[in-house]
Amino acid sequence: MNLDDQLELPSYLHHTPEVEERLAAVKSRRVVLSIRNLRREYETANGSLVALSGISHAVHTRELTCVIGPSGCGKSTLIRILAGLERPTSGAVLVDGEPVRGPGADRGMVFQNYTLFPWLTVKRNVMFGLKMKGVQPVRAEASARKWLEMVGLTQFADSYPAELSGGMKQRVAIARALANQPRILLMDEPFGALDAQTRCSMQAHLLRIWENVDVTIVFITHDLEEAIYLADRIVVLGANPGRILEVIDVPLARPRHPAQFLSGHFLATKKRLETLIYSSETSETSNGSKIPGEAA
Ligand SMILES: Nc1ncnc2c1ncn2[C@@H]1O[C@H](COP(=O)(O)OP(=O)(O)OP(=O)(O)O)[C@@H](O)[C@H]1O
Ligand SMILES: [Mg+2]
Repeated sequence: MNLDDQLELPSYLHHTPEVEERLAAVKSRRVVLSIRNLRREYETANGSLVALSGISHAVHTRELTCVIGPSGCGKSTLIRILAGLERPTSGAVLVDGEPVRGPGADRGMVFQNYTLFPWLTVKRNVMFGLKMKGVQPVRAEASARKWLEMVGLTQFADSYPAELSGGMKQRVAIARALANQPRILLMDEPFGALDAQTRCSMQAHLLRIWENVDVTIVFITHDLEEAIYLADRIVVLGANPGRILEVIDVPLARPRHPAQFLSGHFLATKKRLETLIYSSETSETSNGSKIPGEAA
């Protein structure tokens, strides 16, 4: 018998009144991002590959949503479609009721791979988008300083990216995205390349920033604990085709604290995620990874 079986865990569906109230408040806010019946097919040498199918979901203002699922289930495809970097085969994405037709200032993006301009200082990296928008240099610089203070990097304003650690580079990337004041911050495994300790401190850092900034976050990860620690709700994707298996209301109070990693509600949620993702991976091997000629 393993330790899990010996632990008396609560149901991941059980919410304390405090959590219930908070989740109800989140869901009562306006829908900022509406994802409607998305489908994405790729033509490959082996036929048509259905990366995403029937993806529908509504994200509320200032909600923090994590999207989780096995490798290849379409997480990056989904976030690229939300960012407007890629078009769906069918379906639609709406931000504040307006269809997404391409990238826009209402959505900021942070990727896993460091994407800072190496030839610009930290401050100039953060100012970049503002200058592109025609913001006057003095105002852009003041704004960059404000955002660098928010991510705790004031002292590094004049450093170059090569002089920073991975965690610091991602803090600059977050500051750069937020400086443009997006409605939605889209993050694709932003802490995936960091060591475990830095990753933990970045998670806490992100939560602190999010508490102080009026922004809605969609955060892709394959780390179950990261998803539970950060999210209001977790969208669990299965593979082949990428589809929503379940949307989990995270049964943890806010503010979040690392001590919650050991709580019964945390462990019960982790167990549920493991069950969903493990069974999805098992069905992937039995079905094969491609669905040639599947009807649209
Ligand atoms: N441009 C493309 N052309 C053909 N197939 C693609 C393309 N982009 C993605 N795919 C396929 O779509 C599926 C989903 O890929 P995607 O990168 O979205 O997965 P993911 O969930 O982000 O994976 P990971 O966790 O490894 O980052 C995969 O089978 C991938 O091979
Ligand atoms: Mg990916």
